[in-house]
Amino acid sequence: MRRILVTSALPYANGPIHLGHLVEYLQTDIWTRFQKLRGNNAIYICADDTHGTAITIRANQEGRTEEEVIAEMSAAHQRDFSGFGIDFTHYGSTNSEPCREVCEEIWAALRAKGMVIEKDVEQLFDIEKGQFLADRFVRGTCPNCKKNDQPGDNCGSCGQTYTPAELIDPISTLSGTKPEIRTAKHLFVQIEQLHHFLDEWTQSGTLPKESANYLKNYFLHEPLRDWDISRPAPYFGFEIPDSPGNYWYVWFDAPVGYIGTTKEWCDREGEDFTSWWKSPDTEIHHFIGKDIQYFHTLFWPAMLNASGYTLPTKVHIHGFLTVDGEKMSKSKGTFVKAETYLKHLDPAYLRYFYASKLSAKITDIDMNLEEFAMKVNADLIGKVVNLASRTARFVKDVGLSETYPEDDGLFAAAAGASDEIAAAYEAGDFARATRIILALADKANPFVEMRAPWELKKNPEKAQELQDVCTIALNLFRQLSIYLAPVLPGLAEGAAALLGTEPAKWDDVKTPLTGSPVNKFKHLMQRVDPAKVTKMIEESREEAPAPKSSLDLAPEITFDDFSKIDLRVAEVIKAEHIPEADKLLKLTLGLGEGETRNVFAGIKSAYKPEDLNGRLVVMVANLAPRKMKFGISEGMVIAAGPGKDEIYVLSPDSGAKPGQRVS
Ligand code: 2FM
Ligand code: ZN
Repeated sequence: MRRILVTSALPYANGPIHLGHLVEYLQTDIWTRFQKLRGNNAIYICADDTHGTAITIRANQEGRTEEEVIAEMSAAHQRDFSGFGIDFTHYGSTNSEPCREVCEEIWAALRAKGMVIEKDVEQLFDIEKGQFLADRFVRGTCPNCKKNDQPGDNCGSCGQTYTPAELIDPISTLSGTKPEIRTAKHLFVQIEQLHHFLDEWTQSGTLPKESANYLKNYFLHEPLRDWDISRPAPYFGFEIPDSPGNYWYVWFDAPVGYIGTTKEWCDREGEDFTSWWKSPDTEIHHFIGKDIQYFHTLFWPAMLNASGYTLPTKVHIHGFLTVDGEKMSKSKGTFVKAETYLKHLDPAYLRYFYASKLSAKITDIDMNLEEFAMKVNADLIGKVVNLASRTARFVKDVGLSETYPEDDGLFAAAAGASDEIAAAYEAGDFARATRIILALADKANPFVEMRAPWELKKNPEKAQELQDVCTIALNLFRQLSIYLAPVLPGLAEGAAALLGTEPAKWDDVKTPLTGSPVNKFKHLMQRVDPAKVTKMIEESREEAPAPKSSLDLAPEITFDDFSKIDLRVAEVIKAEHIPEADKLLKLTLGLGEGETRNVFAGIKSAYKPEDLNGRLVVMVANLAPRKMKFGISEGMVIAAGPGKDEIYVLSPDSGAKPGQRVS
């Protein structure tokens, strides 16, 4: 019996589970169920990935604490996963004490090996808030295409990547102020020290060939860059014990969640933790998507190697999901949340469909919605479930024949496919496994058709033949249900209940059932109703956000932001030239009750002083005084227009009085 620890990538706690995620969780669940069915001691460990800036942003937006957000998301994720029959041995959180302990242990090992160094990093600092800004807290104008209001790491318009410090006119989204560049001390792990180990490990058959080659050609042919694993406070995560005020970057503690969550489970169940993570007798299998290979094939093995934990036996890597040949899209309704799917469709459909598509390759898989309905209806219901639904009722009273009848070698042939099917599952080639299983169904069905039990039923003299045909059909059905059990546990349970047997084990495919009672047939699965698929898509469709205004608006502000600006009606008491100034006029503005302000306004190119004397204008009255070359300016006059001779000073309608508030 093998001991196998299996993981899926830990989903971020800041968003819901959708059909794209489910490719991986279903793939992992199927593989783990297969291992258990074969009699292996397999556990499936997962957790929410809770740390980092995204959670803080969400918590701030919702006026809640990070802990509140992650507790709610964990419950939602677990509800979704269980709805799809994903059977975790334990589901934890990276924000747990066992995870912290393992982080500390691995950290100490990296320190002891001299792999941690300190380096200065230039980062934007929000002076008002007194904190360094994560990329996501900065917006500004793209240095490449000059589009304004772009995020701190890459441009939403032209796609250019950059550092927040490269943004033009960066603004802190926390305070709305302009941040300044400051130097911060960050901690780095020198994974280059393990270059030799990584060279060997990545090429040792642990990874899919294409990944191994990619790493060799693109990363490992030159020195590996130091990995920046700390973030200054405030940061939602674990504080680094020997570096107060610094926190481990989310990608440092995320994979540690695999170990920490196992530890939590071991503590709870009285299991021996070391035999799971520090024993050469235990296999470790990670299932991940192609986008996070770098973390799992370089950083993670380096951390494990340095700290004496078991290295992954295999990293299984899958591609992305497309729907109807395209990236999932909210506006098209193909970005379907797990929760929405479950409202409309049977999870077994998706389990079967994904299984029929998943191979051991890193290629993307497509969910064509017509094919989805067709495969389930024609193959699963039409060929597998129907074997039972068309025959069980004829033997409800008599049960199965006492001896297994002559069946043209069908049962033996299906039993003989056991190793081949098992090998396909083991390799993660579920598409091949389901193809072989369906080919068996393709042989069983014509046999039943030809022997036509529904005809035999009409002739009492053919009662024995009827019982024999149904015995064969139900035994073939049972074999298929066992082979499909990792994919469709519900179908296997239904088959066991129908035939009054214990939950199946893999080798049960070798021995036919005879002489046993047959229970009343209960519907095992309905056909896919295409109208429900349409409904699910409709419900998932989100209005596309209004197209960005071509006005090139400044970043949105709140009402509170706006109300900080004190606009007043003012009278131009005196407008004067300043001989040395090219652009400015000096204005003396009256705000009523004898109060005046000096303002230097850049309107000389469009106005003569005499045109302004006595006019009412609108001014920003609470602008901090600014020292200018010719004196202090105590406010600003509001004007429209691009400049030069096209400047238009705003004035209120007649009747307005100096000093009145403009709002
Ligand atoms: O990419 C992601 O969704 C990450 N939350 C995966 C983390 S996997 C592991 F390292 F924890
Ligand atoms: Zn751009």
